[in-house]
Amino acid sequence: MNPIVNRYTELVGIDHPIVQEGLGPFRTPKLAAAVSNAGGLGTVSMPGMPADLAEGARVFRDHIEECRSLTDRPFAVNIPVGVDGNGVVLPFTDVYIRMVLDARRADPDLARHLTVLTTSAGFPGEYIAMIKDAGMIHQHKVGSTRQAVKAAEAGVDVIIAAGFEMGGHAPSKAVHSYVLVPSVTEAVDVPVLLTGGARDARGLAAALAMGAHGVAMGTRFITSTANTDWHPAYLQALIDAQEGDDVAFDGVYGPCRGLRNAASARLTEHIGHTSSDIVDAVELTRWKIESMQRAQTAGDVRDGLVLAGQVASAIDDIIEIAEFVPNTAAGAAQILRRLASSLPIPTASA
Ligand SMILES: Cc1cc2nc3c(=O)[nH]c(=O)nc-3n(C[C@H](O)[C@H](O)[C@H](O)COP(=O)(O)O)c2cc1C
Repeated sequence: MNPIVNRYTELVGIDHPIVQEGLGPFRTPKLAAAVSNAGGLGTVSMPGMPADLAEGARVFRDHIEECRSLTDRPFAVNIPVGVDGNGVVLPFTDVYIRMVLDARRADPDLARHLTVLTTSAGFPGEYIAMIKDAGMIHQHKVGSTRQAVKAAEAGVDVIIAAGFEMGGHAPSKAVHSYVLVPSVTEAVDVPVLLTGGARDARGLAAALAMGAHGVAMGTRFITSTANTDWHPAYLQALIDAQEGDDVAFDGVYGPCRGLRNAASARLTEHIGHTSSDIVDAVELTRWKIESMQRAQTAGDVRDGLVLAGQVASAIDDIIEIAEFVPNTAAGAAQILRRLASSLPIPTASA
């Protein structure tokens, strides 16, 4: 019997309420398949925003097909909702969401496995109905209780509450998981996942205690044997990171957390100014994405942007996902049972 069964595991059809969330603009089909095969939910990440978006969509589709070829379990895709200064959704979001929905329509076998679409960054607006009509489960990542209520009221199925300590693009309101998650679980009726700062059974137990239904981890899954697509220097940089080695810099959609190095210093120096104060905004965005990808593919962890959560400081090993996912669920259940049984039983007179 699976140690933790709840509304979330039943909705998505997985054994354990443990998600490997999107890690774009990087390659994650093998990682996603490993997490899904271990009974969690793996996520294929978006491949970036190349000038040729048709080529980007082809690469994304290849990653999805690769993941499908490696798992028979449910898996997800992550697509951030990029918006311009006028609130208009950027073309890459539209192209990628439509590619996923078309791919599922054309291939019923793929549709049975690629069942979850996670959006993040901006509000998904009209895409909520499109995703629902396609029969997919829609998860949306938010950084505030207000955004959580808005998304749930608009029909999103699962809210991912993102604390500021998270790796990658972090909420502009800078609310941390310990404050945000209980507020979000109080405010919405749909299942909620904690993202930001979780790395083990204790993190999952804490998320459940705060009313969440599971955890969506990013940084923890990067240092795993299944993650052979990333340069070993990236994994080593995370293992070497100590407390205080992470920083929030000016990313693509707002603040973004990664390791302190020459590349992030270039962006933290300019925090508080708009990107266009520095150089041409489009060029700067391209440089940021290219520099993230250089760290991941070429291992340039000095002059490339190394996205990582604050939790990297507490990670010092490379995990086997097949063991890690079930052990984390079993460990969380054990913690909760032990804590409950250690409490005094209230008496009638107390
Ligand atoms: C390298 C890296 C890349 C990320 N890319 C994305 C992304 O493309 N889309 C997204 O919604 N979140 C992205 N995130 C955030 C993760 O999905 C997840 O929410 C976050 O890592 C959780 O915090 P943790 O790192 O403390 O586990 C990224 C995080 C990291 C570390």
